[in-house]
Amino acid sequence: STSGPLKVMISGAPASGKGTQCELIVKKFGLVHISTGDLLRAEVSAETEIGNKAKEFMNAGRLVPDEIVTAMVTARLSLEDAKEKGWLLDGYPRSSAQAESLEKLNVRPDIYVVLDVPDEILIDRCVGRRLDPETRKIYHVKNFPPETEEIKARLITRPDDTEEKVKARLDIYKKNAEAILSTYSNIMVKLDGNRSKEVVFKEIDSLLSQVQRDEVKLVKSE
Ligand code: AP5
Repeated sequence: STSGPLKVMISGAPASGKGTQCELIVKKFGLVHISTGDLLRAEVSAETEIGNKAKEFMNAGRLVPDEIVTAMVTARLSLEDAKEKGWLLDGYPRSSAQAESLEKLNVRPDIYVVLDVPDEILIDRCVGRRLDPETRKIYHVKNFPPETEEIKARLITRPDDTEEKVKARLDIYKKNAEAILSTYSNIMVKLDGNRSKEVVFKEIDSLLSQVQRDEVKLVKSE
């Protein structure tokens, strides 16, 4: 049962394709995309107080302290656009304390999507990932090479995308995953994320559309 605009959480190991799918979800459903990784990277590059605190944790592949991230997310969720258009939460909650914070605030998604991808594929995806600092588009040297030489020349690599740090991030993800899943088990859908991004999106699209349709039915029956 849902109420109001669509509320979605997307989860999965590092490089499982969350950001890639979020680009497609936003294009189709117009949700407000709240990615804690993106928000934190913006703070780091703007050298804000939050960014300066977060930087060392991020670069080491460790989680940024809960209170910093939770304050950022709750501030963003409370803005008018998120209430009006609905939201797509990406990379949060990432610990049981974060999940509890949302439960206390009565913030619950309609659906909790988990992208499932084998470890060895995740490492290759991270090591090959490149970001366009201008458009914020996500590329991969083999899977999604840039369209032009001009874009290629400006692509950057994330400091936490080395093989060693990816392994550390993956370990942390696995340690936390189960505790978070238990909060959302009744609305969780696990998808095989080791397929083309179009095929994965097709499945997400149909799930979200279904949630939206049920929403319409719910309103009609009232
Ligand atoms: P965050 O930015 O959230 O990193 P992450 O969870 O490790 O996820 P990624 O961004 O690495 O991957 P993704 O799943 O979005 O994959 P993508 O689509 O890019 O967090 C970074 C850091 O911030 C954390 O380590 C932590 O320090 C901090 N942080 C963030 N949230 C926090 C929180 N809540 N609490 C505390 N700290 C927090 O795809 C990856 C690559 O694969 C790309 O190259 C892409 O082109 C390619 N690809 C995607 N889909 C496919 C496909 N279907 N087939 C082939 N290739 C594909």
